[in-house]
Amino acid sequence: MKDDLEKRIEAAVKNPQNLGEMENADAIGTVGSADCGDMLRMWVKFKEEDGRKVIDRASFQTFGCQTAIAVASVATEMLAGKTVAEAMSMSGEELAAPLGALPPVKIHCAQLVEGALRSALSGAPAPVAKAGPSPAQSASLIESFAARAPAKLKIVLDT
Ligand code: FES
Repeated sequence: MKDDLEKRIEAAVKNPQNLGEMENADAIGTVGSADCGDMLRMWVKFKEEDGRKVIDRASFQTFGCQTAIAVASVATEMLAGKTVAEAMSMSGEELAAPLGALPPVKIHCAQLVEGALRSALSGAPAPVAKAGPSPAQSASLIESFAARAPAKLKIVLDT
């Protein structure tokens, strides 16, 4: 029998919210996980509300596992209406909270979402389409993925 966390992750992956590039984003952040090599990009759009600059909406793309997709989905839902300071203060654990507590082996998946959010909110300008690709700010996530340093492979021969 599946536990609640697994069911919630499955549901979020089946119907991910805010998935995809955002054309007119005000900020963008891309981060790669040193633990697994996965990548996640987040787009953020701001608006003025009661004299404060708050997040209007956020979206994401990822080459990541199901947990990363599920956390990004619930996190982007939670971010609407938060100020930059409020969003910056959120940990990966808090961003994943609607799913429930993640097992230790999956904590880095939530940290991937946290990292992309922090990267976007730290003031990096949104990339201009067709700008020269750099791993962090290229025009598409696939370019960032391709621009990563090749992973070191360890080949073990079975004797
Ligand atoms: Fe890489 Fe989850 S295993 S983000």
